[in-house]
Parts: sequence; structure tokens; C-alpha cells
Amino acid sequence: MRYLLFAFVIIALVSSACSSAGDTVGEDGVIAPAIAGSETYLLGQSVYNAQCASCHGVNGDGQFPDAPLEPDITGRYGAPPHDESGHTWHHDDDLLMRIIREGGMGDPVNFYVMPALGLVLSDAEIEAVVAYIKTMWTSEQQTAQREGTLAVRAQEP
Ligand code: HEC
Repeated sequence: MRYLLFAFVIIALVSSACSSAGDTVGEDGVIAPAIAGSETYLLGQSVYNAQCASCHGVNGDGQFPDAPLEPDITGRYGAPPHDESGHTWHHDDDLLMRIIREGGMGDPVNFYVMPALGLVLSDAEIEAVVAYIKTMWTSEQQTAQREGTLAVRAQEP
């Protein structure tokens, strides 16, 4: 029993060290676009490819790349693009993390379902995947989203 407890303490220490490692979140508290080849980039890319790409497309061009922002023959919208052609960059960091943790907000009649991944992914993985998605945006979009994230946080009580 004592060994089991010891193992838990070690796991807790290692995972807290992991979540604070790297430079995923900048000094302003906003997730920085991942630098190609960095630890955050590689983690974000592997999470994205394993957990997101099947719906949102390997390159972030959406479930229906030919008409990504249109409903399909069933009348439902698919997973939207995350790249610069989509609207993901209009969402602040906290909303993006919430959607990934809790699932999509679209009603299932009009949208395909975005699953809740909060039990599958750690906070560090969620931050890394957001940092990776940010590499799909133009620098203007990155700046606007960063300012939007700070503006939303400034309004919070
Ligand atoms: C089973 C398919 C599926 C998977 C897997 C999936 N999504 Fe989604 N996602 C969707 C659908 C469908 C929507 C649109 C409906 C909605 O928002 O409810 C969506 C919406 C979103 C949105 C909000 C819309 C936008 O453009 O900002 C974000 C952010 C998002 N997904 C991120 C992710 C990330 C990150 C992953 C992987 C960690 C992921 N999704 C995995 C299907 C999926």
C-alpha cells in the first residue's frame, strides 16, 4: 500500500512537471503559436493527428474540404476548418479549451457532434494542440486572437 501511494506521488510530481514544462503559454498567459519542431509543436501535432485530424482534416481544412462551411446532403454541418479559412481564430483561448474539454456547442440536428475530450487529454495536451492549431493561422489572425483572449479575460470579474 505504501508503495502504491509512493507511485501516485511520483506520477503526480512528474505530470505537474510536464504541464509546466516548455513555453506553450506566454508571459501574458495566452497560448503562443507553437514554434516548428519545438516540444510543444511535436506534442500538439501528435495530439492533433491522433484526436482531431479524422474530423477536422490533417491540414485543418475541415471535414468537407470542398465546401467546409456548408451543410452536407443530410443538412448538417461537419467539423469546421481550423486553418486560416475557418473561424476558429475568432474564439479566445478559454473558449477553445472549453470546447475541446466539454465538446461542441452545435445542436446534433444541424451539426455533426464534436466529442468532449477532457477525460482523454491532459491540460498540457490541450494547450499544445491549441498552440499547434495557431500555427495554421496568419500572423494577423494570431495577433487578433491573442488580443481577443486578453480582452475577454479583462472583462471577467
Ligand atoms: C468526431 C469528430 C470530431 C473530432 C474527433 C474532433 N472534432 Fe472538433 N468539431 C467537430 C464538429 C462536428 C464540430 C462543429 C460542431 C460543434 O461545434 O458543435 C467541431 C467543432 C470544434 C471547435 C469549435 C469550432 C471552431 O471552429 O472553433 C473546435 C475549437 C474544435 N472542434 C476543436 C477540436 C480539436 C482541437 C479536436 C481534437 C483534440 C477536435 N475538435 C476533435 C467534430 C470533431
